[in-house]
Amino acid sequence: MTGERWPQKKHPLHRSARRDLLASAYNNVFALNSSDIFIDLLTDSGTGKMSSAQWEALLNGDESYAGSFSATRLKEVIRDFFGMPYVLLVNQGRAAEAVYFNVLLDTPGKYVLGNTPFDTTRHNIEKRGGIIVDCTKTTQVPILNPDTHATGEFLGDVAIDELKQQIDILISKNQDIAFIIITATCNSNAGQPVSMKNMREVQRIARGYDIPILLDLARYAENAYFIKQREEEYRDVSIAGIVRDMVHCADGFLASGKKDALGNMGGFIGLRDRNIAELVAQEIRGSIGLELVDGAGYGGMSGRDLEALATGIQESVDFEYLDRRVSQVHWLACEISLTGAPVLTPGGHAVFVDAGAFLPHLTWEQFPGHALALALYLEGGIRSVEVGSLMLGRDPDTGENRQAPQELTRLAIPRRLYTDKELACVIETFKSLSEKASSISGVKIDPDHEYIPRHFAARFLWEGI
Ligand code: F0G
Repeated sequence: MTGERWPQKKHPLHRSARRDLLASAYNNVFALNSSDIFIDLLTDSGTGKMSSAQWEALLNGDESYAGSFSATRLKEVIRDFFGMPYVLLVNQGRAAEAVYFNVLLDTPGKYVLGNTPFDTTRHNIEKRGGIIVDCTKTTQVPILNPDTHATGEFLGDVAIDELKQQIDILISKNQDIAFIIITATCNSNAGQPVSMKNMREVQRIARGYDIPILLDLARYAENAYFIKQREEEYRDVSIAGIVRDMVHCADGFLASGKKDALGNMGGFIGLRDRNIAELVAQEIRGSIGLELVDGAGYGGMSGRDLEALATGIQESVDFEYLDRRVSQVHWLACEISLTGAPVLTPGGHAVFVDAGAFLPHLTWEQFPGHALALALYLEGGIRSVEVGSLMLGRDPDTGENRQAPQELTRLAIPRRLYTDKELACVIETFKSLSEKASSISGVKIDPDHEYIPRHFAARFLWEGI
């Protein structure tokens, strides 16, 4: 023990040091140490800054083994804000997926429709033999025009005609449809929002066939913000009111507590049906009843986590905060786009750069989104992540690489963390990269180290810039 509480930041690191660090991380940004990163835009998940009210609540955490008032408070807050009768706590979003899907995907070969699921969601569905039919309306998110700013459209919407058509085809073939899942905002589709109108239309169709609808609400508040800004009917409705209306369209939801809920850890599930809630509760804590589920551990969270999350949810629907957050993301998107990099029309949590268009000399099999992420680190110490064919992985049946509709690099903005001034160095890095884009080399997966999910664990070969 050195007595140091945290590794001290050694920055600014020299470029050659970053080159060595990349090599020893096998060109996987997940293997870099946080102390070697200047601006960390890898994710907005659990990386936000807690407010003083959250810290105060945290000190009040009830660590009782059973009947903790912190668990009761969190469940009440979730019930109140989301309006679902049954609430279960888990330690993060992927755990919610695992236990929920154990119940809904109890046998292989069931179908799941909706807009593009996040990669852990995809993994949790496919691992249980589920088959995903992606019905996202806009899979090619347009490039941002900094003059017109946002499009005002809901590019995460489900394509209603296609959804209906796919359901009819599957039913005519006697296939079992387990559920429809709508991810709002849709992280894997460049963070685009889903309109209330669309959720209602999906609900109308699903009701006709008795198919349950789940919402992935990792970013519920940002989605509600866009609904307020863009759907006339909701202009005067509070964010909290909009969130409740979103949930009203669904039979259940799963949520990571690490994004919009402003937790550093946590997750939760809301369910309308008591029987399903019982089954999911049993998945969480063995064969015990719904009422007892908290008594056996609060989804892996300590009392203080529960308190921080309860206060985080209350803060998450504050319009001023959301307005500042989304405006910061849009400002950064515009500024990067003015350097000449093709930036997608932004959603709420991240700037997505079209790396395929920025690095046209690379094929999709050279993973341009990952090449750009490596270049951003090498050039400016900035950590970002690929969202494209690398993340999509291989087809479970054929073993072939799947091609994503767009090869993107995501710069996710942690909540309440970086100032505009700090983020300005990202713009500078893009300026210098735009002059040498053509010399950024492509990426190969090291065939002996292709671990799944690939972007967390695989090793890569990269020649640099
Ligand atoms: N759903 C969505 C839409 C997500 O974005 C994530 C995580 C999850 C589910 C899983 O939640 O991390 O709490 O287990 N997204 C992070 C990201 C990891 O970087 O976008 P989790």
